[in-house]
Amino acid sequence: MFDSVAVIGAGTMGNGIAQTFAAYGARVLLVDVSEDALAKGRKAIEGSLARVVKKGTLTEADAQATIGRIQSSSKLESITDVPLVVEAVVERADVKAKVFSQLDRQCPAHTILASNTSSISITAIAASTKRPDKVIGMHFMNPVPIMKLVEIIRGQETSDETTAHIVAASESIEKVPVAANDFPGFVSNRVLMPMINEAVFCLMEGVSTREGIDTVMKLGMAHPMGPLALADLIGLDVCLDIMEVMHSGLGDDKYRPCPLLRRYVAAGRLGKKSGKGFYEYA
Ligand code: 3HC
Repeated sequence: MFDSVAVIGAGTMGNGIAQTFAAYGARVLLVDVSEDALAKGRKAIEGSLARVVKKGTLTEADAQATIGRIQSSSKLESITDVPLVVEAVVERADVKAKVFSQLDRQCPAHTILASNTSSISITAIAASTKRPDKVIGMHFMNPVPIMKLVEIIRGQETSDETTAHIVAASESIEKVPVAANDFPGFVSNRVLMPMINEAVFCLMEGVSTREGIDTVMKLGMAHPMGPLALADLIGLDVCLDIMEVMHSGLGDDKYRPCPLLRRYVAAGRLGKKSGKGFYEYA
């Protein structure tokens, strides 16, 4: 569908998105201001592809070809004539507004600007450009190469044509698109995050241990992993940011972040990526 795509942000989501488009034949430009993040992103992609090769569902040659389709750059200016840009930078409205405003100035009029934001308003992001009809949410799930869902968020001015292109693009990489309207947290995080937050309250109040809470949800509700382990996978800072956006955006105290979640984030216990969250990682 899109033969070339630029992905901004080489973190967990960005490198997963880059890998997925490249695996389906697109040339990908992966952009991050940090050379270190780009190097870590490439390493993560190589590790993820190596898992699939080991499993026998991908040949070593196909894995190499996928990696070969991914170029990287530390300059936003290097994004020129691509039909689609997917932004996956830090979850801060001011940073996203700056990135979209620059992309709007440098990309041709036909370029669709998508954001992988997990909760920030697409309408607000679109307002920092002169092409709000071509701005849309393309919310992937972690781990991106595995999870089938792409939540597609239409901002106030997103056009039917842009939506149709993004639905088709999602299907072309074998994802299942589901449309959501632009409310804080959309559907996925509006439902998921209060569950994770409540699990943290259970831990804080001593209702059960971390293992106890996770086992209840795994064996009692057939979740593939418990909410505390999932929070570690997502990143505790990301969970906190999303709770804050829903708390302020929806104005209901049922979205107040658990103080223990705040304390862990303040201590730098961010989950898997920092080596320690609710669990410890080697
Ligand atoms: N790259 C490639 N393959 C991967 C992978 C990766 N990064 N991660 C897992 N896999 C593959 C494994 O190789 C394995 O393949 P196989 O079944 O064919 O052998 C398969 O996925 C399962 O992996 P594991 O055996 O290692 O472990 P699990 O069976 O426990 O599965 C999991 C891991 C897929 C992460 C599963 O636990 C799961 O689905 N967890 C829930 C994830 C989830 O809820 N994600 C959404 C988070 S919310 C979000 O992202 C939104 C954001 O806005 C916050």
